[in-house]
Amino acid sequence: MKVLFSAAQIAERVAELGRQISADYAGPIGQPIVLIGVLKGAAIFLADLARAISVNNTFDFVAVSSYGRERVSSGAVKLIKDLDNPIEGRHVILVEDILDTGLTLSYLRGLMLQHKPASLKIATCLDKPSHRLVPIEADYVGFKIPNEFVIGYGMDYAEVYRNVPDIRIFPSNAGQ
Ligand code: IMP
Ligand code: MG
Repeated sequence: MKVLFSAAQIAERVAELGRQISADYAGPIGQPIVLIGVLKGAAIFLADLARAISVNNTFDFVAVSSYGRERVSSGAVKLIKDLDNPIEGRHVILVEDILDTGLTLSYLRGLMLQHKPASLKIATCLDKPSHRLVPIEADYVGFKIPNEFVIGYGMDYAEVYRNVPDIRIFPSNAGQ
């Protein structure tokens, strides 16, 4: 499978995002930033990003219904795992592996805003802007990519390949 971004390129970009976020949240925010990862795809990106941010941060995770074995979004998003801790009055960054149609993040953003955080931003490792069905943009984007299906660095095809250290293009004729 063709490498789109090597582990070294990803590490370099995540370090940059970490510096950018640290600068944006420097100063007296008073309490740690809360990083909310969307399971399972964002787990690896969140683990790296959290360590690249020099401002204190804590994590929480949510899970939503996923693609399963489909490669196209069903459009329906359902919360499978909610937050463990309240986020009211907290500075929150939603952390996603990939912003594609935007359905997942617009659903989650709406849900998070109901909890009245002090601020809410979105960080995504990858962005496929050409595939958007609903208007939503991330505040921090690792890489913009064309409309290709990718795996690795947390991202799966039917739950496989999440452990691949770099981001690769999954061939469109494979697994069918
Ligand atoms: P959205 O709701 O269409 O924006 O979808 C976001 C979710 O779809 C991501 O969290 C991924 O889990 C999944 N997804 C979208 N594109 C890809 C891809 O190219 N590879 C793996 N998962 C993807
Ligand atoms: Mg996923």
